[in-house]
Amino acid sequence: MNTSSALTRRDFTKTTLLAGAALASGALNALAADAPVKRIRTGLIGCGSVSNQYLPQLTKSPFVEVVSLCDIKPERAKRQAERFKVAHHYPHIDAMLAGEPFDFLVDTTDMQEHEKINRRALEAGKHVWSEKPIANSLAAGQKLLQLALKKKLRLWGAPITVQSPQFAFMAKQLAAGKLGRVAAAHADYGHEGPNWSSFFYEKGGGSLPDLAVYNLTSLTGLLGPVKRVSAMLSIVTPERDIREKGKIKVNEEDNAMMLLDHGKGIISHVQSGFNYFNPHGHDGSKETRHTISIVGSAGFMGMVGYDWAPLGVDFATHDHPKLERHVTDAQGYVWQQGAALAAECLVTGKELLATPEHALHVLEIITAARESSANGRRIALNSTFKWPIVS
Ligand SMILES: NC(=O)c1ccc[n+]([C@@H]2O[C@H](COP(=O)([O-])OP(=O)(O)OC[C@H]3O[C@@H](n4cnc5c(N)ncnc54)[C@H](O)[C@@H]3O)[C@@H](O)[C@H]2O)c1
Repeated sequence: MNTSSALTRRDFTKTTLLAGAALASGALNALAADAPVKRIRTGLIGCGSVSNQYLPQLTKSPFVEVVSLCDIKPERAKRQAERFKVAHHYPHIDAMLAGEPFDFLVDTTDMQEHEKINRRALEAGKHVWSEKPIANSLAAGQKLLQLALKKKLRLWGAPITVQSPQFAFMAKQLAAGKLGRVAAAHADYGHEGPNWSSFFYEKGGGSLPDLAVYNLTSLTGLLGPVKRVSAMLSIVTPERDIREKGKIKVNEEDNAMMLLDHGKGIISHVQSGFNYFNPHGHDGSKETRHTISIVGSAGFMGMVGYDWAPLGVDFATHDHPKLERHVTDAQGYVWQQGAALAAECLVTGKELLATPEHALHVLEIITAARESSANGRRIALNSTFKWPIVS
């Protein structure tokens, strides 16, 4: 990371949100000194469920001009274009690329489509923000990254759990050695599974790239790249009812247990799945549990709530053995803002803490977990990323 242009997460989210709020309230003059010189012309492809989360962030960002939308279900692109006042909408990526010019593509299509669409966009000279995963395999993802570098383009992938202030607090305690000799960690995330699209359960879908990806990003971000993976995966619910489709067969894991070796003796455990009833609901705001916990010879840390929307960090050490809650303020962080923050980077030259190398390492863990589960072996990993992640 270019540290001279790096911005702390707190400053980053605050700048973006303040500017966004000023724009929304028409108080642009108040920000004249900081006003961005440019908005990045942006297209979004995939106008389904998550576009309802992305488009409010993108359309209020002072660094973004959303110029076109696309969906192979054209009525969805049309509906979102009307709702978010976007001038152009298209039924296919070919038409989108040939239509209204833009510089930055936000890819929120089905998981299996990302690799192909991200490649098309990079080849056409667009910067890319992709929902997870960036590609279907580490090798394909690395080729995309090479293509981006060759063409002097940027490529990023969700999720952005490393951008939260709670992640920053935990990373800081670890870097300062507050936990003593770090030994073990646990993370879990699940819900009862989406019912609006079948791709979640088809080949290339599954609960690993949809759900475990958050915990894997957080734990590798905190404890470092993984050397080896062991996993057991299963399908608990072999058939699902999908809206507009009816019954479908489930072909990828909806239940996952992974053991990760981070080196230096540190072992973590991640579990996730599409069969998790949660008494606290799905949106994360009422979650009271530690969904990530890390323990060492001299301390314990537990992240309260989901890592994509954390609510605080409980922390105790030998020196301060009473468990106390820290960082209960989101400080502007929301999981939906990744593409808007990436646009800010494109305009200002600042850098995100979330990197494509990290996203690809997590992708390798996912494919290795599948290999391990299939053949009962522990799988060694090849990829790595710049660590520690310090804001
Ligand atoms: N739904 C959420 O709350 C949520 C949250 C975080 C991340 N995500 C991620 O966002 C992505 C999309 O999920 P979703 O829930 O929005 O799914 P979705 O099915 O609601 O939407 C996907 C949209 O992409 C369109 N699409 C598929 N292939 C296309 C193509 N080749 N060209 C153009 N459009 C195409 C589909 O027609 C659909 O409208 C996934 O990677 C998912 O893991 C979703």
